Amino acid sequence: MTLKDRLRGVPRLSIRDQIEREIRERGPIPFSRYMEICLYDPVLGYYSRNANQFGKAGDFYTSSDVHAVFGRLLARQFQELWQALDRPHRIEILELGPGRGLFARDVLDWSHKKFPDFFAALTYTLQESSPALQAKLQETLSDHLHSGRAIIANPSRTHSSAPTPNAATIGIHRTRTPETPLIIFANEFFDALPVEIVGPEGRLHLALENVRLTEVWLPVSRDEQEFLDRYSVQSEAGERLEVSQAAQHWMKKIANAVERGFAVIIDYGYTRNEQLSGRHRGTAMAYRQHSASPNLYEAPGEQDLSAHVNFTALTAAAEHAGMRTEPLITQSQFLMGIGEKTEFADAFEDCRLPQERVKVALQLKHLVTPSGMGETFRVLLASRGVSVERVAQISGLRFAR
Ligand SMILES: C[S@@+](CC[C@H](N)C(=O)[O-])C[C@H]1O[C@@H](n2cnc3c(N)ncnc32)[C@H](O)[C@@H]1O
Repeated sequence: MTLKDRLRGVPRLSIRDQIEREIRERGPIPFSRYMEICLYDPVLGYYSRNANQFGKAGDFYTSSDVHAVFGRLLARQFQELWQALDRPHRIEILELGPGRGLFARDVLDWSHKKFPDFFAALTYTLQESSPALQAKLQETLSDHLHSGRAIIANPSRTHSSAPTPNAATIGIHRTRTPETPLIIFANEFFDALPVEIVGPEGRLHLALENVRLTEVWLPVSRDEQEFLDRYSVQSEAGERLEVSQAAQHWMKKIANAVERGFAVIIDYGYTRNEQLSGRHRGTAMAYRQHSASPNLYEAPGEQDLSAHVNFTALTAAAEHAGMRTEPLITQSQFLMGIGEKTEFADAFEDCRLPQERVKVALQLKHLVTPSGMGETFRVLLASRGVSVERVAQISGLRFAR
């Protein structure tokens, strides 16, 4: 029985009332806890409640909402990674936070069609915390689930429901045994993890003043200060920065889970050097119906909350856990590297009419150009147990050299 089933019929406070009750019971709560309740309350959280966040009718587009070519190019890349691992008899891809599963479907369909040997070796595991999105995955991937090629991992809860986010509840749920080579993939997973917000006055907490939510600042912890010193900057007057311990814990778990294989992390984000040059200082935003707002408190549970990813910190976490990382590249460089050789034939294969080709060309352009998603999105590729020479030949890294 799922947590949602168990909670069915139990009177549920609104997100706003839950937050207020928790503050009344425990005192001011850190921003990360507010974000966790808003996004991941098991019944009413933004991601748990329904599966309508994506695409035109939702609040935002991700790359897989733009066109299937994103998944098709990544299928090509995964097949190459499988070759770099010496074409093992079995390989597992584990996707974290697959949402409604469009990416997985595109990868599996294209691998089936174009890379049958790779497809025959593949098990595709989907680890999604939202009950509503898990149900959507059943629809999107029904054929592949039915054949056993795709599997939805069923962690009881991957987010802590305890008042204090607990890294120990974070876990990787793979299908195959640890000796099977593994590729962990995550697109826009890290930006959806709860963050702390820090400023010159300390760490942001939420308190209640009469019945109004108010911001109060408490001292930053030693870990947070260390994070800022190593991977970020010190905030100046009026500035707010994010510290994501949850992202660090996840990266560590990912790296530890890959005994031999790769991690491919795609997200919008920045490096410490960019912050030092004055950019990306304070990136937490709310998204609703395709507009972004700096007001994080307007509609708790009804708007997406997200922060850009600190790739300097993520890279360090992967390396610290023993993975080898490649220099960070843009989504544009990555996709151009994969698609160049075939002149992006993966995008145009289904087009029959010239006007269809024009439409697809525009969608592809959106994925690769700086004015679209090409420069904001970055790709972190990490590996373990693969020779430097083999990694150097990976086509997605071609434009990094
Ligand atoms: C911004 S969406 C991205 C969805 C998809 N990757 C895409 O590109 O369309 C973030 C996804 O991560 C999922 N998620 C967040 N935390 C998670 C966790 N701890 N375990 C599994 N899934 C999680 C959310 O439910 C949501 O589906």
